[in-house]
Amino acid sequence: MGFFCEDFKEGQCEGQKVVDGEVMPLVLQPADPNKNDIESLLQAVEKNKDWFEQMIIKNSAVLIRGFDVKNAEDFNEIIETFGWEDIHYVGPAPRTHIHKRVWTANEGPLSEFIYYHHEMVLIKEYPKKVILFCEIPSPEGGETPFVPSFKVTERMLEEFPEAVREMEEKGLKYSFTALGSNNPSSMRGRGWEDTFRTSDKIEAEKRAKALGVDMEWLDNGGVKTILGPRPLTKVFEERKGRRMWFNSVVGMHGKELSSAMMADGTEIPSNVVERCGEIIEEESIQFKWQKGDVVFLDNYALLHGRRPSLPPRRVLVATCK
Ligand SMILES: [Fe+2]
Repeated sequence: MGFFCEDFKEGQCEGQKVVDGEVMPLVLQPADPNKNDIESLLQAVEKNKDWFEQMIIKNSAVLIRGFDVKNAEDFNEIIETFGWEDIHYVGPAPRTHIHKRVWTANEGPLSEFIYYHHEMVLIKEYPKKVILFCEIPSPEGGETPFVPSFKVTERMLEEFPEAVREMEEKGLKYSFTALGSNNPSSMRGRGWEDTFRTSDKIEAEKRAKALGVDMEWLDNGGVKTILGPRPLTKVFEERKGRRMWFNSVVGMHGKELSSAMMADGTEIPSNVVERCGEIIEEESIQFKWQKGDVVFLDNYALLHGRRPSLPPRRVLVATCK
């Protein structure tokens, strides 16, 4: 499907790339520069919902730029106009609820790099769309780069066909240690009570089980969660049969609080992990925020991360089915 919509004008942005014939991200601006108010945007969204969703799948990322989106309330209105169902966040990032369906993206220190990931990749039910809104762009850094996941699989297959085949066949197993209570000084500092929305251990275990997660309680009040087997790659409908690098190997392998290995306990060679990290970086699209930007990421197709940033920076998030 090509670009055909009278309510938006296609624009350009820094860092944009053409991947397999599609521009990423697709930039949508007001068709009439005098109609950049939030009401005009909501009308345009209402009128073009299905088309817009097709564009997210086709281009993997869509950026709305040049509209006067001011705050969490405006952002929430956009999400609700689309009518996509909400999906509750489960994961290590400490987040604060802001308004209705809108949360802070990560309360962890701005100085740290949040490594590339598919949102909630290890949980049984992950969002189809991750939608981000930039309320305050960082004075320096703080980009949200993203990576066409199938490119990573392609290049890993070229360079490490044997290792990829082995990991694919055996599946993967991860561990992650969560603290007892929230620690906002760490970007992975979300405590288990908040993660599972209960302070009852039995209930937490039950909820974890339902998400495909096993728990081992630790003496310090924390919990070691074990996840596996999980796939290395995944193919989703409507996405050209692309094999997405739908795993968390580079982000979790050999870290203080986490590990990644093959499901039968075989170690993943560290040179493979290292090279994969380089490939991910090389394939990344370095998108730069402007105030009022709203970005729709196809979470099935893209990894995303956050670069270290100087304060202040405020990017809000909503996750949808
Ligand atoms: Fe994320």
